[in-house]
Amino acid sequence: MTLPDPALVVLVGASGSGKSTWATERYRAAEVVSSDALRAVVGSGEQDLDASVDAFAVLEQVVAARLGRGLTTVVDTLGTDAARRRRWLEGARAAGLPAVAVVLDTPAAVCRSRNAARDRPVPARVLTNQLASVATATDELQAEGWDLVSLVTGGAPTEPGRLSRNTPGSGQPEAAATVGRGPLPGVLRGQGSGLRGVVLQLSRFPADGDLLAWLRDMAGAAEAAVLTGIALMDHLIQIPQVGRAWDPIPEPWVTLGALAASTTRLQLGTLVTPVTFREPGITAKAAATLSALSGGRAFVGVGAGWWEREHTAYGLGFPSARERLDALERGIELMKALWAPGTKPYAGRRVSLPETTSYPRPVGPIPVIVGGGGARSLRVAARLGDGCNVPSDEAGLAKVDHYLELVRAEGRDASEVHATVLDLPLVGSDRDDVWARVERHRGRAPAATFAARHHAGTAAEHATRLAGLAARGITTAFVAPVGLTTPDDVLALAPLASAFG
Ligand code: UTP
Ligand code: MG
Repeated sequence: MTLPDPALVVLVGASGSGKSTWATERYRAAEVVSSDALRAVVGSGEQDLDASVDAFAVLEQVVAARLGRGLTTVVDTLGTDAARRRRWLEGARAAGLPAVAVVLDTPAAVCRSRNAARDRPVPARVLTNQLASVATATDELQAEGWDLVSLVTGGAPTEPGRLSRNTPGSGQPEAAATVGRGPLPGVLRGQGSGLRGVVLQLSRFPADGDLLAWLRDMAGAAEAAVLTGIALMDHLIQIPQVGRAWDPIPEPWVTLGALAASTTRLQLGTLVTPVTFREPGITAKAAATLSALSGGRAFVGVGAGWWEREHTAYGLGFPSARERLDALERGIELMKALWAPGTKPYAGRRVSLPETTSYPRPVGPIPVIVGGGGARSLRVAARLGDGCNVPSDEAGLAKVDHYLELVRAEGRDASEVHATVLDLPLVGSDRDDVWARVERHRGRAPAATFAARHHAGTAAEHATRLAGLAARGITTAFVAPVGLTTPDDVLALAPLASAFG
């Protein structure tokens, strides 16, 4: 069983039942609010019962403050006080957090023997009373309205999974270790479905040092992690969502050429190139050349462009949204005409060309993924493109459903298109690392908000989440991990690769 996260988790159990042990194995120290620990803070030690009133006053304040911030809070007390439980539950409700009660249903004899082995055991009579109170509380919990009441039996935790801090590597495929440089060059890979999986979107580049060496190292790590490909943003100035205007953002087609030379398996393309930057014939030429250089590994993510500043700064026009979307339609039609076999006049609905003389021809089809979730972008993607790209949130997933309906309405086979999302995961090695990264990168956003937006979690947790997206029909996740800097950051994504089967 997997517990919700973030959540209020209230422990219920007698002394020696294993509450603190259970909590420590699953949560960060700061997430566990313990009456014993607070007795030692406000009193002389964990067993300073004279300090109980003060300790519980502090505990109530800490629980309320954490819940108010939407942060996971594990309450480590006996848990047998119904009035306190009700207050914590109300606090969770008010904060919109799920509320879980975890009963450490450890046999009385085990609690007694563990208690007896302690430096300062509680008196036997006290423990007997505790065990009776826990039994009563366990009955009361059912009617109290908890989202989940979980029984941990036998003194051993029964819930593995996402909350465990001690399972890096477990349940994860040994992809990085076993695959390495694949023997199959890209040209032999299945066309059409070649984009399925996890494509790393590189959006941030080192400001100094050897850019080519860095790209090679990152791409090598992506191949070792069995990722599907690498996508590059196409911007003339680094966008504010990613960095500062003076941070480097290399031209994608040149950079993709370098990546083609240093990889053998990765699909390579843009996500996305604005149709406003280059005449589409030039983009068609660049992509066909990339396909030829890479053995058929090129794709083109294309959009209507949105950032006026970079257009103005580089002397480019920035027409109205309607005109840009018109240009997107024409551009896709024109690129496909130039890539099609044979040299002949082309007369289409929006584009006419006297000849389609363009060599080298691409090696196999070049998928065109249309970025943008606007109504017209989705229609263009369904009518002319080979896939769509939208954010990986619920709103984006609804757009994917709509896109697939539009594809079917066009009389096209929905299983042949690429239903893709852009995902910005925060990936950490364990729960402590995850939250250290949240704190490092959240800026002014509240930690709980930032963590939710980036699905902050371990690679194994992201793999589970992405598998859920795959089950909903997503074929490709373009991932741009928060703070991705080094090849090790890329290798850490290996578990994600298995999510798409
Ligand atoms: P805990 O100290 O976790 O119990 O375990 P608790 O419920 O929090 O107890 P109180 O209420 O604070 O007094 C008690 C002892 O049992 C061992 C722990 O190492 C500790 O010495 N233990 C716990 C196990 O051996 N196995 C377990 O699965 C859990
Ligand atoms: Mg304890």
